[in-house]
This record gives sequence, C-alpha cells and structure tokens, in this order.
Amino acid sequence: MADVLAEIDDLVPEANAELSAVQNPAQLESFRIKWLGAKGTLKSKMDLIKQVPPDQKRLFGQRLNAAKDQITAAFDSRKQSVETAGASVRLDLDITEPGRRPQIGNRHILMKVIDELTELFARMGFSQASGPEVEDEFHNFIALNIPRQHPARDPLDNFYLAPATGEGEVSAYNSVPEDQQRLLRTQTSTVQIRVMETQKPPIRVVIPGRVYRPDTVDQTHFYMFHQLEALVVDKNVSMVDLKSTVMQFVHAYFGPDTKVRFRPSFFPFTEPSAEVDVFFEDRQKWVELGGCGMVHPNVLKVLDKQGLNSEEYSGWAFGFGIERIAMRKYGIEDIRQLFENDVRFLRQF
Ligand code: DAH
Repeated sequence: MADVLAEIDDLVPEANAELSAVQNPAQLESFRIKWLGAKGTLKSKMDLIKQVPPDQKRLFGQRLNAAKDQITAAFDSRKQSVETAGASVRLDLDITEPGRRPQIGNRHILMKVIDELTELFARMGFSQASGPEVEDEFHNFIALNIPRQHPARDPLDNFYLAPATGEGEVSAYNSVPEDQQRLLRTQTSTVQIRVMETQKPPIRVVIPGRVYRPDTVDQTHFYMFHQLEALVVDKNVSMVDLKSTVMQFVHAYFGPDTKVRFRPSFFPFTEPSAEVDVFFEDRQKWVELGGCGMVHPNVLKVLDKQGLNSEEYSGWAFGFGIERIAMRKYGIEDIRQLFENDVRFLRQF
C-alpha cells in the first residue's frame, strides 16, 4: 500500500516539472491529453485502487483526487499564461490593419518634359545626340563663328574653368592660349559641331542638355538650365522646313490653338536668324522660347573635316529653353521652384 501511495505522491512534482517546460498551446494540449485525458496518467492510476486493501481505498481515493486537483489547477494557470503570452504577440501584429504604403518617388518634371520632347521629335524623324558639359572654346565659340573679340566670350558672362598650372596654382584667363580654355558650356549649340564632326548628312538630331551662365537668378533666370537644340543638315534644306517644323512642334506640344511668332534676330552661327515666342495664356504675354535660323556657312565648314564639301549642304537649327517649355506646359510660375527640390512641389507632376 505504501508503494501505491508513494506513486501517487510522485505525480504532482512530475507533472509540475513537465508543465513548466510548456511554452505554447500545442505543448499545452499534449500535456492535457497525457495527464488529464480520458486515457491519461491520472485515469490509469485509478486502476491501482484494485491493489489497495478495502479499508485503505478511501485514503487512496482522497490522495489521488488531491493530486488530480493540484495538477488541474497547475494546468489552468499555465494555460492562462501561455494564452496571454500568445495574445500579446497578436496585439503587436494586427494583420487586419491596412498597412503603411511606402512613399514612391517620381521623376523630376524636367526629366519628364525632356522625355516628352525627344519622343515628339522622334516621331518627326529626329534622333538624339549629346555632348560634354565641360567644353573647349573651339566647340563653344570658334566653330560656331563667335570670334575672340565677341562680347559673348567675356569672362564675366561665362563659367571659365581656371586650368591648374602647378601646385595649387591657377592661371589667369588671359595667360591661357585661345582654344585651350575650358568652360561650362553656355549653349547646346556646341553639340551641333560635335555631331557634324562625326556624322554625315542627312543629319536630323535633337540635343537636350544642361547649360551654364552666370546670370542673376530671378523668376525666369537661373545659372544652370536646359536647352533643346535641333540640327538638320542636308542638301536643299530651306527656311520653310525650319518654320513648319517649329510650328508643328509648338502645336503638337502646347495645343493646336497656341499662338507662336517669329521675330528677326541675330546669332553668329545662323543667317538669317529668328527668335521664337509663344504666347503664355496664363500670364497674357509673349515669352521667348529661344533662337533659330539657317546654319551659317562658316559653321557648316566643320563638315569639310570629314572630306565633304560643305558648300553643297544647307541646314537649320534651333535652341529652345526647356524650363520655359515646362513652365508654359505645366503652368509653373517661377523657374526657381524647379531647382529648390521641395518634394511637395515636385510630387505634383
Ligand atoms: N544657342 C543660342 C542661345 O543659347 C540659341 C540658338 C539660337 C540656338 C539659334 C540655335 C540657333 O541652334 O540656330 O542663346
């Protein structure tokens, strides 16, 4: 009898030890089946009662019931702690919440406008070209028929790069021989020359790119901006081609009712030359898009380098301000907004 009672007394510590290892609902359920289930340990211990003498059966029954009560109580409290632990995990991770949408960036409005313009001109048969932003005087001036005395070459109107002459020394502008000065290009017309150095006519290209000028910043001026240059070179190219292409572009991009006008002008690299204005409805005034004209024979001479006879060719070109185009198209009031990088502004487009 003592053995049987000792067996019952061992049950509680054994069950407690197992219960303390229980961490999750699955382990809890295994524990319940093993100890408290219909075929569990406690039920099977009931069979021991057959071995117990009749006068002791009552004591045995009481001990077994006490053990069962203790194990059930321990199980209940463990069950609670496992469930609240599970519940707190669930609180942190509410899968019914809609979730936070990540902020997705967008392309800068000027980049979008450049894509729109090059696509539009691609449909009119123009391919795309590009050239360096740090240029030499040959491409920025000389080849474009802008001689050394020309006011456009004034150091005050250009970002010349001071070449290093030695340790920490930079030379003065005038001490560097002509052609060897380098500068941030002031116009994308430089790429006209680069294209004519490498491609043979018929040439039909557009050149979007950045240009730099030491301008005072205001509503319509910035020291860096973008131009869209176009160059067409072939035999028998006329001013009519130029004008109709520009009109077609303006009407396709801004709408068929857009008012556009050509004013006679002067550029060293074109003859004759004109300026193109577009009417800004929102401001009720004409705004200049840029210049254009028939490519000057001196500029076409660069074709001779390829063994061609430049006198057999004619061409036209234009150079328009991309910021102006973007401002007219998207109703932007101030050029500075394009470069301040306020995402609240830029996200609108
Ligand atoms: N390069 C000129 C400027 O920046 C604009 C220009 C005028 C470009 C006439 C041309 C042109 O191609 O034919 O002011």
